[in-house]
Amino acid sequence: MTSRMRTRIVALLSIVGITLLVSIPLLSNAQDATPEMTEEQMIQRGASIYYTVCVACHQVDGNGVPGIYLPLNKGGIANLEDPTLFIYTVLYGRGGMPRFNSTYSNADIASVITFVRQEWDNNSAPVTEAEVAAVRDNYSATPIVSPTPDAQIPEGQNHPEQRQDPSNATPASTPSS
Ligand code: HEC
Repeated sequence: MTSRMRTRIVALLSIVGITLLVSIPLLSNAQDATPEMTEEQMIQRGASIYYTVCVACHQVDGNGVPGIYLPLNKGGIANLEDPTLFIYTVLYGRGGMPRFNSTYSNADIASVITFVRQEWDNNSAPVTEAEVAAVRDNYSATPIVSPTPDAQIPEGQNHPEQRQDPSNATPASTPSS
């Protein structure tokens, strides 16, 4: 083997080595494609969902519209220590509020709820994807909150008989459409 060939082989091997070194972290990343979000990432994603969808009714300041859209800022079910009712409401809707169970993943719903629970004057504990999954699995067709009186339901939002059975209550409208 000439020294020239040897130099070439060494050069080739080092290219292979560098390629491996660079690709190992990429490969291990690919295996972990859906890592748990950090709380900061959840709040970021939750904010973007809130300001795309929920804001239409509950407003930028989370105070809603008196007599129509309940406030999410301070008190209410949004800040209960047990987040079950909050999760249930976002999953299956309530009165004039559309359901989001097929629009959003458990991670999305946990994110928007965590955002709401920590925004404005709120200071309640975050909600995890697993907590949303548990409510989705346990309560799919059982209304655990009483329906809104008809007078509180905005025109054209939802149909009274759909409110009795959340399993067939498709959202009458989404704010983006
Ligand atoms: C189309 C309007 C509309 C949109 C969009 C909407 N909501 Fe609502 N929301 C309502 C109405 C109306 C009520 C009151 C329902 C009732 O009185 O039973 C409500 C009630 C709630 C409640 C219960 C508050 C309490 O203290 O009882 C929570 C929590 C809530 N919404 C969260 C959300 C979140 C989070 C989003 C976004 C993912 C959202 N809502 C999107 C209309 C809306």
